[in-house]
Amino acid sequence: PDMPVRNLWGEKEVRQTLPERSPFAHKGTFGKGLVVGGSVPMPGSVAMTARAALRSGAGLLTVATTKESIPAISPLVTEATFVPLEQKDGFINELKDLDFDSYDGVAFGMGLGTHEEAQQLLTRALRSTEGPLVIDADGLTALVNVLHELKERSAPTILTPHPGEMARLLDVSVADLLKQPFRYVRQFAVENGVSVILKGAFTIVTDQSGQQWVTTTGNQALAKGGSGDVLTGIVLTMLMQDQPLYAALNNACFIHGRAADLLVEEKHSHYDLLATDLIEGIGRVIRTRS
Ligand code: APR
Ligand code: MG
Repeated sequence: PDMPVRNLWGEKEVRQTLPERSPFAHKGTFGKGLVVGGSVPMPGSVAMTARAALRSGAGLLTVATTKESIPAISPLVTEATFVPLEQKDGFINELKDLDFDSYDGVAFGMGLGTHEEAQQLLTRALRSTEGPLVIDADGLTALVNVLHELKERSAPTILTPHPGEMARLLDVSVADLLKQPFRYVRQFAVENGVSVILKGAFTIVTDQSGQQWVTTTGNQALAKGGSGDVLTGIVLTMLMQDQPLYAALNNACFIHGRAADLLVEEKHSHYDLLATDLIEGIGRVIRTRS
C-alpha cells in the first residue's frame, strides 16, 4: 500500500479500549440507537443492522422503516421498537415524525433505495442528528450529491463505504482508489470533516484528523450481501459506548472480522457462513475480547 502500516488494531488495542460494563449500569448507559433505512424489497438490511447493534450491547434500539415491512422485520429483532414511515413504491419517502435528536446514535441508509427522495431524506438526517451519524450503503449513494452538508455538522459523521462506494464519493475509478487507498481516504476525511471505514479484505479506519488504522480480522466468508449491514450495526453501538471515537470504529471492525474468523474455525465454512450467523458470533468475540 501507499502507507507503511504502523497502526495495526488488534487484540491488545481491543482489550485496552473496550470498556467493562458497570454492575450499576442501566439501559440508558449503553445508548439509545436509531436505524433508518430498509424498504419493501430490502427489509433484511435494517433487520441485520438492528440485530447486530443489539448483540453488540445497545441499551435501546429503534428501527425507522417502511410501514409495510415492519411485520416482516419485527420478529427478527424482538427487542427493537419501530417507527413506521410513509412509503412510495415500497421505499421510504418521508421522515416527518422522526425525532433524530432524541437518539444517542443514528445509522442511516441500509436498504434505503436510490429513489429521488433519498437525497432529501439524507439531508434531513445530516441536519437533524445531533449525535454520531453513520452513513452506509444507499445513504452513501445519496451523499454523492450533498457532500457540502458534511462540513455543516458539528457531531461526528462516519462513512462506511466499500471500495465502489468510496470511489464514487471521490469521483475516481476503483482501480485508482485501490492504488493509493490511504492517501485518497485521508484527504477525503480531513477535507470533509468525517471518519471513514473503507471496507475490504483489509479494512482501513481513518478519523477526521487523518489518523489511520488497519484491521486484518475477517475472511472471504464475509464476501456476501449482508456482511456490511452487520458491521454498521456494530459500529452504531460501539459509538454509544464509553470509548474514544477511533476506538469505537476500530473495535467494531475487529469484532466483525474476528466473529467471522472464529465461526469459520469452529462451526462454519467460507461457503455457508451467513451474515445472520455473524451476528450470533459477536458475543463470542466480546466475551473473550480476542
Ligand atoms: N475478507 C475480509 N473481509 C471481507 C472480505 C474478505 N475477502 N470480503 C468482504 N469483507 C467484509 C468487508 O470488509 C465488509 O465489512 O464484508 C463486508 C462487506 O460489506 P459491503 O461490501 O458493504 O457488503 P453488503 O452491504 O453486506 O452487501 C452488498 O451493498 O453496496 C451494496 O449494492 C451493494 O447490495 C449490495 C450490498
Ligand atoms: Mg454495504
